[in-house]
Amino acid sequence: MFSVFPGDKEDEDKDMNNSTLNWISASNVEVLEMQVEKQYEPVDYRENLIFPGYKLKLIRFEKALHDLRIQNCTSILEAESQHSDLIPAKYEGGLKIWECCYDLSQYLFENNVEFQGKRVLDLGCGNGVVGLVALLKNSIVHFQDYNIDVIKTVTIPNVLLNFDDRESVLKRCQFFCGDWGSFAKLRSWNEDEFVRYDLILTSETIYNPDNHKKLYEVFKQRLKEDGVGLIAGKSYYFGVGGGMRQFQNLIEEDGIFDVETVWKNRKGLQKEILKITRKQQP
Ligand SMILES: C[S@@+](CC[C@H](N)C(=O)[O-])C[C@H]1O[C@@H](n2cnc3c(N)ncnc32)[C@H](O)[C@@H]1O
Repeated sequence: MFSVFPGDKEDEDKDMNNSTLNWISASNVEVLEMQVEKQYEPVDYRENLIFPGYKLKLIRFEKALHDLRIQNCTSILEAESQHSDLIPAKYEGGLKIWECCYDLSQYLFENNVEFQGKRVLDLGCGNGVVGLVALLKNSIVHFQDYNIDVIKTVTIPNVLLNFDDRESVLKRCQFFCGDWGSFAKLRSWNEDEFVRYDLILTSETIYNPDNHKKLYEVFKQRLKEDGVGLIAGKSYYFGVGGGMRQFQNLIEEDGIFDVETVWKNRKGLQKEILKITRKQQP
């Protein structure tokens, strides 16, 4: 269950209503030379088992918190001190690794999804596990997270940790922060064209129903005509109210995409993966 600050009582849930919240606009995040040169100690990261036979080096949660304290990053530290997974429009949970990103990574492997040379977006990336898988399979990957401090403290370091040739992998990456509402229309800093993706991958991003429209808008605006969107998440998010059926209904009512459930877990909390593709013109 998600823990939301303040509390998770019904009236407080209404605080999540987007009209009263101040969402940060989307922008590019540059990778600084000092980040490229930074050397990590073995204590800074661990080798996480993503699924049987596949490991990634990921910055330890404690290391990320330590760095955020040094930078006095108040919004994430505020959530952490409240033992909260998110504070709507301030901190959206990207510091932790959420379980559905493992499911989506495994799905991508088991289904031989084509990555070579494809443009991929890891939407709401957090630690960037799904985007890292795509990057290791030779895609061009754009990582997007609401919080710039998540991008700087975990996403970029995780990319650097998993590639020896940092300069060359960074040529295949871009990083973005800010709200999906403005990200849907954002141009990349080094592209004249509005970038559209072959694959948009997202894990554990449908928890807040107030954000469903703008999350969906990213797929609508940024997925290529023959692109594929994969949405991994829990069937229902207790405590916050979002769920896969609600998100699926929104997509189906718009009538632009075909939607199918391509994976469901067999035991425990219900999790699933939705696949969306644009309907063919008659
Ligand atoms: C629960 S975390 C999941 C992180 C990661 N995908 C994983 O599975 O570990 C939700 C992610 O969605 C992003 N997010 C949530 N609401 C957002 C919004 N309105 N605009 C942009 N990003 C948002 C957060 O920054 C965060 O990375």
